Amino acid sequence: MKIANIVGARPNFLKMAPLINEMQAHASISTTLIHTGQHYDRLMSGQFFEDLDLREPDFNLGVGSGSHASQTAETMRRLEPVFDAVHPDLVLVVGDVNSTLAGALTAAKLQIPIAHVEAGLRSFDRTMPEEINRLLTDAVSDFLFITEESGRENLLREGIAPRKIHFVGNVMIDALQASRSRWEQSSILSRLGLGDGDPYAVLTLHRPANVDDPLTLMNFLDAFQALARHVPIVFPLHPRVKQQLLRQGYLCRNLRDPAEPLHRKGIAFLDALGYLDFIALLSRARLVLTDSGGVQEETTFLGVPCLTLRDNTERPVTITHGTNRVIGSDPGRIVNEALRTLEEPPRRSEPPRLWDGRAAERIVGILMDPHRHERDR
Ligand code: UD1
Repeated sequence: MKIANIVGARPNFLKMAPLINEMQAHASISTTLIHTGQHYDRLMSGQFFEDLDLREPDFNLGVGSGSHASQTAETMRRLEPVFDAVHPDLVLVVGDVNSTLAGALTAAKLQIPIAHVEAGLRSFDRTMPEEINRLLTDAVSDFLFITEESGRENLLREGIAPRKIHFVGNVMIDALQASRSRWEQSSILSRLGLGDGDPYAVLTLHRPANVDDPLTLMNFLDAFQALARHVPIVFPLHPRVKQQLLRQGYLCRNLRDPAEPLHRKGIAFLDALGYLDFIALLSRARLVLTDSGGVQEETTFLGVPCLTLRDNTERPVTITHGTNRVIGSDPGRIVNEALRTLEEPPRRSEPPRLWDGRAAERIVGILMDPHRHERDR
């Protein structure tokens, strides 16, 4: 069986690594790895391939940045001849980025079966570009692999046939577990001058709704500055927010060198971190503030308190089974909730069902023998 696997943006790389490793363990599967080039910086792409031991892509389409329409269209235009040359039996896409949608649509037009890993998540907010990508990708997929039961309800409501939906767990957690011995050895804390028990918070922000409008972003920064008087905040910057901070004159000098110790309270602005350093940093944090979907899941698994700076989440299991709370964007509320969480951290619970590091194994098992899986149900 020939499987063409598509990656494009940072979160895709970690989801794909366990899948490619699992596929390569089966002689009957031949894998092609296609990088669309949506993310291209060393910090956003190359470093992740290294950290995750993900093999070099067979094709890099070099699509780069652009508007949503041009990025999606250009990816489709460059993917079609690759699919024509490779003749895959299946195209596998992960997550909800523009490369995910472009891969699924191109395959659907060529009548190639599609597997979507991380299907069924819904924020019910169609102003989020990812929500459109999720809805459309799921609508054309043949295998819909879900990470939590809410996904099944959402897909059934949208008229997806029950036999296409498979609850398999979470490949992001596979990646986190498989690399544990490596991220536990990361030196990021000592590079920041942080001792073992030192309290600190980690902040990530990159959603267009939070960072593209200067006023919204400055309101957030007021809240972070107020909070940083109580606890140091480590803020690794996604390029989208870094560009905006530079544009607003908020960052006018070079970013802090992680080798320079973090002695005082305040915000440490860093360049985007690699996977191993970032997970190491998360794992020891007293508090995480984020608008990322993946970070909500990683903190749930690690049992680290997380406040989500959005009005909704497409990952409700992180609220019901995890340490996550959705608190919106009001600066006063952010500071209050953060201080309250530092004082009374939520109790950690068991990880959500099937978040056990074996999702990729289940997915590949089903792809290799879908009929047996149906008989077993
Ligand atoms: C994309 C995904 C988002 C995901 C995020 C993770 C979509 C719609 N959004 O958002 O779901 O959570 O990736 O990072 O697909 N840039 C660089 N270097 C790079 C890549 C991008 O500097 O390697 C800059 C671009 O020039 C652009 C900005 O970052 O200005 C945003 O990149 P883009 O690919 O449009 O989307 P993200 O905001 O990263």
